[in-house]
Formats: sequence, C-alpha cells, structure tokens
Amino acid sequence: MADTLRIVLSDSKKEKPQANALGFGKYFTDHMFVMDYVIDKGWYDPRIIPFQNISLHPAAKVFHYGQTIFEGLKAYRTSDNRTLLFRPRKNLERLNLSNQRLCIPPVDETMVLEALKELIKIDEEWIPASEGTSLYIRPFVIATEPDLGVSPSTQYKLMIILSPVGAYYAEGVHPVKIYVENQYVRAVRGGTGAAKTAGNYASGLAAQEVAGGKGYAQVLWLDGVENKYVEEVGSMNVFFKINGEVVTPALNGSILNGVTRDSVIQLLKHLNVPVVERSISIDEVQSAYDNGVLEEAFGTGTAAVISPIGELNWRDRQMVINDGRIGEVAQQLYDQLTGIQTGRLDDPFGWTV
Ligand code: COI
Repeated sequence: MADTLRIVLSDSKKEKPQANALGFGKYFTDHMFVMDYVIDKGWYDPRIIPFQNISLHPAAKVFHYGQTIFEGLKAYRTSDNRTLLFRPRKNLERLNLSNQRLCIPPVDETMVLEALKELIKIDEEWIPASEGTSLYIRPFVIATEPDLGVSPSTQYKLMIILSPVGAYYAEGVHPVKIYVENQYVRAVRGGTGAAKTAGNYASGLAAQEVAGGKGYAQVLWLDGVENKYVEEVGSMNVFFKINGEVVTPALNGSILNGVTRDSVIQLLKHLNVPVVERSISIDEVQSAYDNGVLEEAFGTGTAAVISPIGELNWRDRQMVINDGRIGEVAQQLYDQLTGIQTGRLDDPFGWTV
C-alpha cells in the first residue's frame, strides 16, 4: 500500500456528449483508477490509466457469488471554474463498512481520496457545468479470484470510473410516482441492506419491473419481517412531511445510511424545520394522507439528489401528494443542497472539498 500512484495518460480523447443528452451513467471519461489486492501483499499498484475494458477469469468469484460493493458520489463545477467534491470522506468510510460486511479487505481512505482527486483533475474537462449536471463518481470493488468455492476471495480489484450525468429520473426535479411494494422485500435485519452491494439492487429488479409496467418510476420497500414499516425507495432514502414535521425511517441495519439523507437531516435542523428519525408504518402514511396531513414526500440520494414523490400507490390506492407538485420543503432542500454542492451558496457545514 506504500506504492506511489502511477499515471498513464491516454493518447486520445473521446468526444464529449452534449449536456442535454447526458441522462445517467451512459458516458465515461478518458481515464480510470485501478488498484489490485492479493492476500499476501495487500492493496498494491494504484494507478490511473486510460479508460478501458478489463479481462477476468470466468470463475472470478464476483460473477458467481456477488462479492462486490460500490459507492456513488459527485463532483461539481462552480461558476468560477473550481471543482468541488461533496463529502467524499463519508462515501469512503461507507465503502469500508460495505467492504467489512462483504468480507473484502479495507482500503486506505486517505490514499484513495488523493487518487480520486488526481483522477478528477486529469478528467476535469468532463465535468459538465449546466444546471442539474455533475460528474458521477463510481468507486467499486470486485472479487477476482478464479475459484468456485464459496469463501472470501483472496484477490480483488478496486476501480473508480467517472460519468458526466444529468438527472437520474427522466422526470428531473419533477415529482415521481412510486409503487409501495407488497410482495417482494429488499432486505432483512442482519442481511446486507445497509451495505452498498450489487445483490441488493439485483434482487430489487423484479419488483421494479412490475411497478414500471404500471407506470411507476420505482418501488418503496417495506420491512422484510412484517411488511409494515417503510424502509427506502429503490435508489433513495425517503422522507415524509406530516403535519409540519419531517419524518424519515431510522437506520435499523437494513436501510442504507445515505450521505444525502444525513445531509438533509442536518439541513432541516439548520433551517429550523422539525425532523425526526423513527420507524414509520405505511398505515401511518396512509392515515396521514386520509386525514389531509401528508403534506410532502420526497426521496434523497446522490444520483437522485432531492426527488419529490407526487404519488404513492399502496395496494392499488393512489395517494396524490401535494396535488402531484413539488412541496415547499423539498424545493428548499433542493435549492440549498445543490447551492452548496455547486458553490453557489455558502457551505456552513464544511461539506465541500
Ligand atoms: C447513488 O445515489 O449513488 C446510488 O447508489 C443510486 C444508484 C443505485 C443509481
């Protein structure tokens, strides 16, 4: 791990996409970061190399047993042309927590952050500048040992790839429709729900397909034991404003500890909006709606930013929230958060790097 960072620059540059054609995760920059691990050596050979395909043995454990984790964070271009990262340490801390859950050896967070900064500097021209765009950063680790035994791999690869992105949802900051999942579950206590690992997302695809077929953007997961308490949405944590108070499910081991979730809780406190982390059942959401006090619902995530929820469907009952429009608090949070992220507003929290 004492290895110094090697840099091999690409001798050709790809054409950059138009800002209005970005979408999410379709284009990649000219370079990537790679580092390898073998059990008797630790992490070694950190390097920035031209963006390229990788070659793996067909028996690499990641293909068979899903021993892999990922992260998502963003870099922004400010109006005076600086580059800002948003709370990158939080993501690297979580990367190591996910590693621990998946029996993957920890990485040196400081070293990876320095390498990430270097990578972004090299591909700086790829950071889009227009409203609602950013450079999405995807670090991930895969188990590469060619061995079909079910045991932790003795070899790994950590990579960081960069993708200029627009809004995650086609709806942008306009409200999305969410289907409350009644049949499948995402995670259970003691499972991997709090880790950012591929299996959590793969196992959600079937439910998402069904919801998509009914016109819903994503599903809202309920707990895996009683199918009663709200957990999170497909790629976001979830918040409800009920009778003036904002409620979000408390972290319970099966919910992802979102960096945007944490930032929103801190922002709400800063803005003197009452906020509480506690368990909340879907029946409580339904009765708040019936009593006319479900004022807003929104999701939060790195990819999704603040995404207002305009409709929830629970057992085929449609709850149209705030007339399907973005609520005041969600709008305020979106403005404040993106303002801080892009350097438009002061950052009283010291979040940007
Ligand atoms: C992110 O917000 O970075 C996520 O991980 C969501 C992703 C699955 C699209």
